[in-house]
Parts: sequence; structure tokens; C-alpha cells
Amino acid sequence: MTDAMSAIDSSTPTKHYYPIICIDGPSGAGKGTAAWRLAKDLEYQLLDSGALYRIVGLKAFEAGLISSDTTQPIDEAALLALTQDLHIAFELNHESVCIDIVVNGKIVGQKVRNETVGGYASQVAVFPSVREALLALQQDMATRSGLVADGRDMGTVVFPNADAKIFLSASAESRAKRRVAQLNTSGQQADFDAILNTIKARDERDENRDASPSKPATDALYIDSSTLDADEVYQQIKAYCQGQGICF
Ligand code: DC
Repeated sequence: MTDAMSAIDSSTPTKHYYPIICIDGPSGAGKGTAAWRLAKDLEYQLLDSGALYRIVGLKAFEAGLISSDTTQPIDEAALLALTQDLHIAFELNHESVCIDIVVNGKIVGQKVRNETVGGYASQVAVFPSVREALLALQQDMATRSGLVADGRDMGTVVFPNADAKIFLSASAESRAKRRVAQLNTSGQQADFDAILNTIKARDERDENRDASPSKPATDALYIDSSTLDADEVYQQIKAYCQGQGICF
């Protein structure tokens, strides 16, 4: 036995290393679909960090802490207390492109997925104390298996040492067009201009806040999906991840 080997203390627990893939970018660029497909193909966990902020945003609205009038001041201490009371977990739904969100033991349906709740999420996401309260939960997800993390600050703040980082963007117009098509497909009326304005307002708040603004990590692969379909986006991401040493 060499000296180096004999120096190893056999009581030291073995550290496991699990790969992390981050996909950041504005809503409607296709992050959710690409992240779901990656997690499914690689059998990794999926962290939908936007859903965390959506849940906090919806709870804050229900508690009367925020309203759609974004000029109203928000009670940060009450918001933080509410955030710390939440126990959130994710389960990948293998049948359809979504994840089941479990909050305090109960599955939350699609009610957090609309644009109104997206706006509440963006309002609560500006508070550093709220972001800090959600940080450990997010980082903890990378300790059990490989992880695909979808959000705004995954590659810059939450997982700066990730194995692969992608910033997936698209013009506001193309994202609004996709949203209108989605709503029409589900039988709902949609006003393109109203949707475009909402998208632009949310981008503006997410990109210009002080705390963890939405921006590409310096070492991220930047993809503009304005003229790409979901499969083309996925193939680009897959090829890049393979180049980063991730085995499919
Ligand atoms: O990805 P999404 O549309 O579900 O995100 C909703 C809002 O949550 C988004 O407008 C800003 C905020 N968010 C954030 O600040 N940081 C993240 N990592 C993810 C989302």
C-alpha cells in the first residue's frame, strides 16, 4: 500500500458527483420543453425554478401581499415568512411535457401557469431575501441525481459550476406569436398586442432588477430560437451537452 493510499481515512463518506445542465432565458423561448426532454432522456431530475417563484407569487397574491398594481409597496418581511413556510418538490410527468409540482404535500395543477401568475412571480422575484430563501432548495436538488435546471439565474448564481449552460432566447414578437397560437389551440381568445406588452414588461423587470437579473452566463451557449422549432432547439442543446461530456 502506498503512503498516499494508507493516508485515506476509510470512514470518510464517498462524495458523489452529479452532472448539472442549466437552461436560462426569458419565458416563451422554449426552455420548458427542452428541459423536460433532456430530463426525460437523461433520467435526470428537473428543476423548474420559475414554478417556485410562481407559487410564491400566487401565495403572496392570495395573502393580499401583492396585486396587479405593480406600483404598490410590498411587505418584504411578510413575503419572506410566507416563502419560508413552503415545502416544494417536483415530479417529472413522463406522459406530457410538464412536471407535477407538490406544495406542502399537495399537487398543484396548471393554475400557476398563466401569464397573470407569471407577473406575480416576477414581482416577488426582485427581493433578494426571497431568492436567498429559495436557494438551498434549488441547490439541494443537485445532490441526489443529475439535474436539468430551468430559470433565469441557474448558470449565473444558483449553479455557477454547472457542466453545461445554455441561454435560450427569442424575439419578444416570436414568443408572443407562440403564446397566441397556444391559447388559440386550447380554444381561448388572445390579443397579440396585449400579450406582447405583457411579455415585454416582464422581460424588462427580470432583466433590470438588481438581484440575480436574467442574463446569459459568460460561459453559456446562446441560442436564439426565433426561427427554430422545438426539435431543432433540442438537437443543438444535445450536441452541445455531448461536447461538454454529458452521455446520452
Ligand atoms: O420561467 P417562468 O416564466 O415560469 O418564470 C416566472 C417568473 O419567475 C419570471 O418572470 C421571473 C421569475 N424567475 C426568476 O426570477 N428566477 C428564476 N430562476 C426563474 C424565474
